[in-house]
Amino acid sequence: MPTFEFNYDELPSDQELSSQYFHLLSAAKQVTENAYAPYSNFRVGCAVLLKNGETLVGVNIENASYPVGICAERSALSSALSQYPDETIIAIAISYSSPEGENNKAAFPCGMCRQFISECEHKNKQAIPLILGAQQGKVFIIHTVQHLLPFSFGKDDLVI
Ligand code: THU
Repeated sequence: MPTFEFNYDELPSDQELSSQYFHLLSAAKQVTENAYAPYSNFRVGCAVLLKNGETLVGVNIENASYPVGICAERSALSSALSQYPDETIIAIAISYSSPEGENNKAAFPCGMCRQFISECEHKNKQAIPLILGAQQGKVFIIHTVQHLLPFSFGKDDLVI
């Protein structure tokens, strides 16, 4: 039977990250302060590192009409692609802070954001590593979003 397996990195803390990834995750942790999350109080931050050295950040922005809210990942990537449409994305870091929570268990991107990142990766023409960590605790490095979205739907499936 065919199986799907993938390799990822699981580090005990952000201290084990390269300096580039450490700073990117720190930016994602810090920007959680800017989240607008009055309904869930789950404050998500995302930082996108570009080849030109710029880091673009985004947060979740909720809405009284709940489905209208946007996740931090799509917020950050929309900003990055709007400002630098032709720049290669080197990596994305995602973190969160939850005033009532433990803040030590990494959260993985939701399904809609996985699909969004998948499209960005296609446009990017190279894999985009995802650095995932809470305010403290373990950090995961997922080498491509395709590992979180097997058999993904993409441009090649859209035969029109
Ligand atoms: N959220 C994100 O920003 N990113 C994700 O990948 C998962 C969920 C936000 C959406 C909502 O504002 C809050 O977290 C709770 O679901």
